[in-house]
Amino acid sequence: MTRTIGVALLGLGNVGGGVVKLLEDNAAAIAARLGARFEVRAIAVREVDKAKRVVDVDRRLLTSDVDAAVRRDDIDIVCELIGGTTLARHAMLAAIAAGKHVVTANKALLAEHGAEVFGAAERAGVDVYYEAAVCGGVPVIRVLREGLASDRVESLHGIVNGTSNYILTEMARTRRPFADILRDAQALGYAEADPTLDISGGDAAHKLAILVNLCFSTTIDVAAIPTEGIDIVEPIDLDYADKWDYVIKPLVIARAHGDPATGPIEARVHPALIPASWLLADVGGAKNALYVQSYALGPSLYYGAGAGMLPTAMSVVSDMIEIGRNIFARVAGAPRPTRPRPVQPRAAMALGELRTRYYLRFGVHDQPGVLGRLMTILGAHHISIAQVVQDGRATGDEPVWVVVVTHEALESDVRAALSEIDTLDVVRQPARLIRISGEVSPA
Ligand SMILES: NC(=O)c1ccc[n+]([C@@H]2O[C@H](COP(=O)([O-])OP(=O)(O)OC[C@H]3O[C@@H](n4cnc5c(N)ncnc54)[C@H](OP(=O)(O)O)[C@@H]3O)[C@@H](O)[C@H]2O)c1
Repeated sequence: MTRTIGVALLGLGNVGGGVVKLLEDNAAAIAARLGARFEVRAIAVREVDKAKRVVDVDRRLLTSDVDAAVRRDDIDIVCELIGGTTLARHAMLAAIAAGKHVVTANKALLAEHGAEVFGAAERAGVDVYYEAAVCGGVPVIRVLREGLASDRVESLHGIVNGTSNYILTEMARTRRPFADILRDAQALGYAEADPTLDISGGDAAHKLAILVNLCFSTTIDVAAIPTEGIDIVEPIDLDYADKWDYVIKPLVIARAHGDPATGPIEARVHPALIPASWLLADVGGAKNALYVQSYALGPSLYYGAGAGMLPTAMSVVSDMIEIGRNIFARVAGAPRPTRPRPVQPRAAMALGELRTRYYLRFGVHDQPGVLGRLMTILGAHHISIAQVVQDGRATGDEPVWVVVVTHEALESDVRAALSEIDTLDVVRQPARLIRISGEVSPA
């Protein structure tokens, strides 16, 4: 007789619906790989009588009682696919307390309450898996936890928010302004009705917090991660980037400094100019990628669909299969944490201590001597210039742009210089700063 594993789905939206579809479409292959089949025995939703759902399900499975769904005796695995941090946190802790293994796609919850959730799971002896929480369908969690288990990550650069990547890719292709492209992205379903978390970098910061924990065995306060959204990028920045063989990408960046086990961790989220010849420059549209630099392997790149019904469901169901295997091997919930315990707290490197290169754009009055005044202030703050252009003559209300690419400089020096420059009478707009990142030196 085929063994069965009882599943409760919390949420039947994009991801929950994808899980139902994948369990049906791939039932035979999944049963062959696991030696068992999954049976969805309860599905919690907000509105049981919703007229239209992503997939058809037996309506008798639907309930709006999340607590009842997670406590049922015939449930082994609870998949939390509701989202948010209030009900989802309550439901996950209730499931863990009831002795259920948990799969989640909820990066916000893990980034903000990970310590509580994983602590409770360890005490209760249950598994918590979360592959879909970062890069959707790209199995980066498994790579970092298993594939690179014997290696040591030195740095990572990721494009982990598909909405931001789609918008910047389209801005680069069409040179249309951010707000126009955002409207199109919403119409096409690439951006939420409220896109704030995506375009502000908040969603990426949640994912970065999870990655930092896996790579550097430490926890990081999401609120303390320096985070800038893509709305600082204007079409004119893409013109200059293009001219100098860069592209602008929405990056998450993390790096270990000093002692590999105890040194401070640099973590930041912002759009960055990267060399057009770097692998990440080709990650376009809504795709995600993670570029990892590790001690033994060197550079490696993981690429694919970071969201979407089936790609995300694929990660959720693969986690269910792994838990199923753990159950049959009688190691489910054994002290083999799916998330590293902090070996010891590591300091977060302050952004002011960052040394990198910068793209700076100044909007100034068209007057003789302006360029000299800007360069004098930059020089006085130890910032040396790799490239500079002053474009054309002012027409009407438009300022003249002075655009600068610096050599490596200290962020606190750059900030001090910009504060001084922004007060000059010849300046018409606050300076625009975009950091430059990447593994390839500029030409
Ligand atoms: N969509 C993606 O591509 C993607 C990718 C990676 C990770 N994720 C993560 O996956 C999770 C789910 O995302 P999603 O896109 O599937 O969301 P979604 O389409 O908005 O679906 C949310 C589901 O949760 C249910 N729900 C909401 N409030 C509830 C309540 N009070 N009680 C019971 N059920 C409730 C909804 O019920 P009703 O159907 O009745 O409204 C709906 O079925 C989120 O954490 C998200 O960040 C999503």
